[in-house]
Amino acid sequence: PIIYVITPTYSRPHQKAELTRLMSVFLHVPSLHWILVEDATHKSKLVMNFLESSGLSYTHLHQSTPPDWKLQDNDPSWRKPRGVLQRNAGIKWLRRKLRGDRDPRGVVYFADDDNTYSTELFKEMRDTKTVSVWPVGLVGGVMVERPLVSRTATPHVMGWMTGWRPDRTFATDMAGFAVNLALLLRRSDAEFSFTSSIGRMESDFLEKLVTLSQLEPKADLCTKVLVWHTRTERPNMKDEERLRKAGTPSDQGIEV
Ligand code: UGA
Ligand code: MN
Repeated sequence: PIIYVITPTYSRPHQKAELTRLMSVFLHVPSLHWILVEDATHKSKLVMNFLESSGLSYTHLHQSTPPDWKLQDNDPSWRKPRGVLQRNAGIKWLRRKLRGDRDPRGVVYFADDDNTYSTELFKEMRDTKTVSVWPVGLVGGVMVERPLVSRTATPHVMGWMTGWRPDRTFATDMAGFAVNLALLLRRSDAEFSFTSSIGRMESDFLEKLVTLSQLEPKADLCTKVLVWHTRTERPNMKDEERLRKAGTPSDQGIEV
């Protein structure tokens, strides 16, 4: 099965650095198709050239977030959901491309551009039949959030070990699950929503696809961390602003 990775991304000083970190891992993963969706009104030259020279199989899309839903510079990051329309654009592209395919085989994974992914993670998700789940490191105010798995003959997910709201039906981060492609295509209403209350975007989405007992626990019964919810510090641009005002930006004629 092909792994379709859907990644929302937006322009900022360290965008190319983030995308390069992802590319370096994806190049080690066989049969991976990267759907990179820019949060912008048009496709940028930077991303276009980056993908073209990456050596990866990819689709380049764009879908801008309406201003009302865009995070403002001084908003706390949890104020508004991010990547909603971009992930939906990726899902829509899959629905269109595979319309009429009677036996679509694959897995869909939503990979944000700032997290840290191991190559093993993709081995774990490859044979996902419904929705597979695993632990995510460095997220939600704890070292690791993870599904709680029964130690029975047929292990299943019983609930969640999280710092924040373990009572959510699916208390997982975006990085903590993958969806079978045929299942996603069958459920035509499965998409992300701005109207999900804070921190419930993943749970609301998964409720349209499965029940708790249908989840497939991966990564040694959810005891291994193969993905980390890292976040990148905003680079210091103090002197760059001065150079720009003087008309001599450091990146004149150089793509960073
Ligand atoms: C957490 C989750 O890990 C995200 O999957 C979830 O979308 C987010 O919370 C949320 O509640 O919306 P966090 O690290 O806070 O993640 O979010 P970001 O990494 O800043 O953004 C998630 C994705 O959306 C990234 O791929 C980012 O490039 C993209 N994004 C962010 C945009 O496309 N546009 C923006 O204006 C901001
Ligand atoms: Mn993030």
